[in-house]
Amino acid sequence: MNLIKKMLAAHAAVLALWAVSAQAATDDAIAERIKPVGEVCVQGQECKGVGAVAAAAGGGARTPDDIITKHCGACHTAGVLGAPKIGDGAAWKERATREGGVDGLLAKAISGVNSMPPKGTCADCSDDELKGAIKKMSGL
Ligand code: HEC
Repeated sequence: MNLIKKMLAAHAAVLALWAVSAQAATDDAIAERIKPVGEVCVQGQECKGVGAVAAAAGGGARTPDDIITKHCGACHTAGVLGAPKIGDGAAWKERATREGGVDGLLAKAISGVNSMPPKGTCADCSDDELKGAIKKMSGL
């Protein structure tokens, strides 16, 4: 190979490298631009969002809202099967009066009544948690 050919070959190699790195930079830029707003967390990897979610869930302690969202709301939001609706104070008050107050309603919620399943499907709910959910749904 003569000198000119060698130099040309070297140039071509440099050019090729430059092209590759330029493409890589562009790919990164594109990935950055099109990356979704919420990031997906992969099990076993550190995940920024997890701490926030755990904190929102209270690290084990459930709020009445958590229990209502997860269990009671399925029927009590729309009044499925004749369930008293969340926020329908009159309907809840009528029941409370009949059952002897919130504690009477709690007893019925624990045992279940007609289409109302025992503990409203929250089998691991404590009495206090159920009572909190009843108070929140009824406004009593
Ligand atoms: C599968 C549907 C369903 C789910 C889930 C459910 N309920 Fe109910 N609930 C009902 C129905 C239906 C009634 C009305 C029963 C009746 O009086 O015939 C009712 C009634 C009640 C009553 C009034 C009982 C009475 O004596 O009048 C309370 C209190 C209650 N639910 C609490 C809860 C709580 C707390 C949860 C969640 C932990 C829950 N329910 C989840 C269907 C449901």
